[in-house]
Amino acid sequence: MTDLSTKYLGLMLKNPLIVSASPLTAYVDNLQRMEIAGAAAVVLPSLFEEQIELQGMGVAEVTPMNQQSLPDALQHLPEMKGYNRGANGYLAHIYQAKKAISIPVIASLNGYYSGGWVQYARLIEAAGADALELNIYYLATKPNVSGQEIEEMYLHLVRDVKSAVRIPVAVKLSPYFSAFAHMASQLDKLGADGLVLFNRFYQPDIDLETREVVSSLDLSSQSELRLRLRWAAILSSHVKADLALTGGVENGTDIVKGMMAGAKVTAVASVLLKHGIEHIKQILAELEQWLGENEEESIAGIQGIMSQQRVSDPAAFERANYMNVLKSLEE
Ligand SMILES: Cc1cc2nc3c(=O)[nH]c(=O)nc-3n(C[C@H](O)[C@H](O)[C@H](O)COP(=O)(O)O)c2cc1C
Repeated sequence: MTDLSTKYLGLMLKNPLIVSASPLTAYVDNLQRMEIAGAAAVVLPSLFEEQIELQGMGVAEVTPMNQQSLPDALQHLPEMKGYNRGANGYLAHIYQAKKAISIPVIASLNGYYSGGWVQYARLIEAAGADALELNIYYLATKPNVSGQEIEEMYLHLVRDVKSAVRIPVAVKLSPYFSAFAHMASQLDKLGADGLVLFNRFYQPDIDLETREVVSSLDLSSQSELRLRLRWAAILSSHVKADLALTGGVENGTDIVKGMMAGAKVTAVASVLLKHGIEHIKQILAELEQWLGENEEESIAGIQGIMSQQRVSDPAAFERANYMNVLKSLEE
């Protein structure tokens, strides 16, 4: 029998497939189906910094009546209760999820700027979450704000969240840093228990008919996994934090690749939105099949074997590889 177990954020997991934050994890009956299908842990949809701030001001939601009296950043906040139940409802969701399933429940906070709202992480811990994923979503659009200032802002936020709670904290990041390895190592030094690679920023589109900016959140494609594999392979021998891969994981061999690059878990969202929650069973069957056919006895046995430090050609993850790819186009 193949041993699929892995350890992530100090949690012993029965396998490396976790379900990442999406509307699917907003319902307890879905969480139960995920557990039955074999998921090792679930991440709840994110609660947003702005929602917590709004609640702190005693405002349930933004209405035309109260809009003008709110700070600029909160004036256009959409109604999010349907997505994550709002700040109080979120705590109840954690509590109900913990009662309904026995796999770990990871809560998620989405923010970028440290403030009073960070203390909310304590309530999330008290509600029973096994760990917290801090999804830092900041789009650096201001020409007068430097990369260094933004990095400081991230570090400040992680430091504050870490000092607010005792449960493990994973940081979900975007790849858009000039020196990602440096940023990851700074977060590691601060004690981030996990790094989640990578956030996908939603990209607005332009509707040519109406000449309006339209929102669209596309599901991922499998090719997005490669960026994650590269960075897991590069970082896994440099950071103590556990690495989680999210983005483009679709089948059992994607999990094998993630483990070989050095990740502790791989997370899925889009593939379940496309094929349904029960698809987890198929992905896990594919994983077991690959391990069996390749006479691998455990996940631990393959973790990190294709990290940059352990492959025969470490440059394959770097610049030299780009030139090789270009050269191969001529052949
Ligand atoms: C509809 C939808 C909603 C999402 N909501 C959240 C969220 O609330 N918080 C979060 O951290 N990520 C959220 N994500 C991102 C996913 O958790 C995941 O990281 C991303 O989709 C990449 O994984 P995938 O390729 O398996 O979809 C969302 C993704 C989708 C498609």
